[in-house]
Amino acid sequence: MSKGFRELSWAPIMKYFIRIEEAVKEFKGGVVNLASGSPDVVPRPEEVMDAISDVASRYWGEVVSYPPPGGPRRLRDEVRAYLASQGVDLGGMDLLVFSGSMHALNVLSLALIRAGDLIASENPTFTDSLIPMKLHGASVRPIALTPSGLEGLARGVEGVKALYVVPTANNPTGMTYSAEARSEIAELSSEHDFLVIEDDPYRALASTPPPPIVNYCRAHTCVYVGSFSKVLAPGFRVAYAAVPRELSEVVMKASEVSLALSSLASLVIYALLRKGLVARYAAEGRRRCELRLKALVDALRDYMPYAALWAEPRGGFYAFIKVPGVNMDKVLDEALRRGVSYVPGPAFYLDSPDLSTARLSIAKTREDDIVRGVKALSEAVKSVAPGPIT
Ligand SMILES: Cc1ncc(COP(=O)(O)O)c(C=O)c1O
Repeated sequence: MSKGFRELSWAPIMKYFIRIEEAVKEFKGGVVNLASGSPDVVPRPEEVMDAISDVASRYWGEVVSYPPPGGPRRLRDEVRAYLASQGVDLGGMDLLVFSGSMHALNVLSLALIRAGDLIASENPTFTDSLIPMKLHGASVRPIALTPSGLEGLARGVEGVKALYVVPTANNPTGMTYSAEARSEIAELSSEHDFLVIEDDPYRALASTPPPPIVNYCRAHTCVYVGSFSKVLAPGFRVAYAAVPRELSEVVMKASEVSLALSSLASLVIYALLRKGLVARYAAEGRRRCELRLKALVDALRDYMPYAALWAEPRGGFYAFIKVPGVNMDKVLDEALRRGVSYVPGPAFYLDSPDLSTARLSIAKTREDDIVRGVKALSEAVKSVAPGPIT
């Protein structure tokens, strides 16, 4: 076993999911899920079955073969058109298909990261994404993500090889970076010659987001990563990354090492895109997110007197709350006993975790259950708070 892997424990987010799953088994009354990063699935089984039989009859040879390097050309072209319809301008970049964006990030790390590289990252963030870079010997410099943006960004990116950000409906904060912040990142990347790794799986579920950072990067300084996990379902394991043309060969070669892409899954996504179904699922999903986030924010206002919303979410799955003076990791056990789950904020910090924070997700939960969950959470917070907080 490699040294890096020996030292790797479960990713912090997964540790909480294991703890939640165990408690949920014990709890008889049904737990309100404010923890999930996976969506309520919009596609209907018969639509997926149609897509499967469609690709099996038309492209059987491709379905049963290894996928070509970079993924099936027909899917790559269709994804490009899908992204263009959302205002994502990939210019002359190459778009490659992967088996989930975690696979894309693994391959990118294999292709681009060397031991000793320094990577800057927003903090808090989706910490899982940085694990492959660390395994390849990179160290990570956190840059604080605050409601007014990335603090000390210009200093933070000095000497780095890459900057990792989730700028749209951020996981975990729900924040969406402003157009100005995006353009500043793009400018700094060409000035200081680092690569922006823009991880953007929630764009289709965000309410009128600004253009992606890649649109501002005219000097081949961005890798744009996206996924169908949040719009369709994570089980398909189909995602994509657009890379500057000069990097595409090395990234394709790195991808061939694992050859993880499923031809069947890729072509099913192709068929769903061709039929315009993915656009319909995205619109349905977005509407659902808006209604549920509104229910969440209203319930927090009504039942969590001391909860400060870090940022008003504009779509996607998440809101990040801070309850000053209260340890939200400790609150989790009480919350689970009262029938609600969530992920404590420390799972998302690269250093100095703020224990008083928590990620609440609406991905799998309807409005009335969200209200029930927030009420239970409020009771749990009060039971753990050191003094009266109402
Ligand atoms: C920001 C971010 N990146 C990547 C992923 C992983 O997505 P995939 O299922 O495509 O591997 C997630 C899932 O939660 C995420 O939130």
